[in-house]
Amino acid sequence: MPELPLHSFTPEEWGHQVLADPIALLIDHAFLEKKAANNAMDMMTRWPNDWLPGWVETFTGVARDEAAHLAQVTRILIRRGGRLCRVHKNPYANALRALVRKGETAETLDRLLVSALIELRSCERFAVLGKCAAHDAELAAFYNALYTSELGHYKVFLKLAYKIAEKPVVDTRWQHMLAQEARILAEQLPGPRIHSGARVE
Ligand SMILES: [Fe+2]
Ligand SMILES: [Fe+2]
Repeated sequence: MPELPLHSFTPEEWGHQVLADPIALLIDHAFLEKKAANNAMDMMTRWPNDWLPGWVETFTGVARDEAAHLAQVTRILIRRGGRLCRVHKNPYANALRALVRKGETAETLDRLLVSALIELRSCERFAVLGKCAAHDAELAAFYNALYTSELGHYKVFLKLAYKIAEKPVVDTRWQHMLAQEARILAEQLPGPRIHSGARVE
């Protein structure tokens, strides 16, 4: 996936490991989509000092996509005999959010970049899952479709980042965040989650 600027790439082995427990993976995935929808609605009210045309439209569009993804993943989960639970832990996203600085523009910029990072890594993971789930036509098609949708979200978040701050500022911060993301992901424990660590054996 040469178009993805990630600093680390997921081995196919990870996909086979997490797909060994597809129900747990779908539950984790459902929570990510819910969180992404919440995050988009929250970002919607955080436009920068100067009104930015397209801001509200972008985030309401993303929120609608994420709610649709949540509905899809829940439908697949229920059909396969699973159900959503109430509690969900996401140490990967929490560690990324800890990188967000306080203060008007810096905070909005960092939140956009963290959102872009999560979309970007999800994209990469969905590509691996789409390949590894080849024996399961429904899951393979679902993951491949999500790759395209989340790639669009990553691009739109990064584009907004470049609209609210100077290019050299965004470039530097983005490179820093990409490096941090690879470190944070490498620290995650293995398990049936979209942002779990890859167990190397
Ligand atoms: Fe999504
Ligand atoms: Fe997304």
